[in-house]
Amino acid sequence: MKLFIDTADVAQIKEAWSWGIIDGVTTNPTHVMKTGRKPEDVYREILEIVNGPVSLETIATDSPTIVKEGRALAKLGPNVVVKVPIIREGLKAVKELSADGIKTNVTLNFSPLQALLAAKVGATYISPFVGRLDSVGHIGMDLVRQIRTIYDNYGFKTQILTAAVRHPEHVLQAALAGSDVCTMFYDFLKMLYDHPLTDIGLDIFLKDWAKATGQVK
Ligand code: E4P
Repeated sequence: MKLFIDTADVAQIKEAWSWGIIDGVTTNPTHVMKTGRKPEDVYREILEIVNGPVSLETIATDSPTIVKEGRALAKLGPNVVVKVPIIREGLKAVKELSADGIKTNVTLNFSPLQALLAAKVGATYISPFVGRLDSVGHIGMDLVRQIRTIYDNYGFKTQILTAAVRHPEHVLQAALAGSDVCTMFYDFLKMLYDHPLTDIGLDIFLKDWAKATGQVK
């Protein structure tokens, strides 16, 4: 499963990219707003760091303007993925952008039938927001499992990009469900490394090595 970082914070992206475990980046208007910076500056800096897929979101809600915004975003770099909301106008735009060879990430996905429509218009990625479903009493990961079944039933090539992750267990469940990608915050990426038994075990090995080599008695 590919791992993406879900942020527009350039320092976090730079640091996480240096670890060698992330494959791409997802941004959204809220992430960009939180940086307090101009979107074009943020996008340029992210694209200087990352050569994997970088999702940049369109803002319009009518298809001609979404297509126009998408084409402009795609010109920022060969690895730009145009993020489009899963509304009727959005999917019309995705069909046109796909025909141009522009990669797309259909976002704000909350139902398996929406995901079916996204695949039919040739979306590169579909982003089910699992944590937001959990927060209204659903089991968000069921959506990922249902999309996996539908896409496998019909051989759709659209990649499932599990999003709105709230804890490492979501990452595990996404991997078990066959999600192609999982995007998450910097803090969750860091947590994937952690296990108390690793820390305890390493401490013992280092102490024993010091004894074995006569550094301590
Ligand atoms: C994904 O592409 C979105 O940016 C993100 O996961 C949104 O989720 P959240 O705002 O609910 O965390």
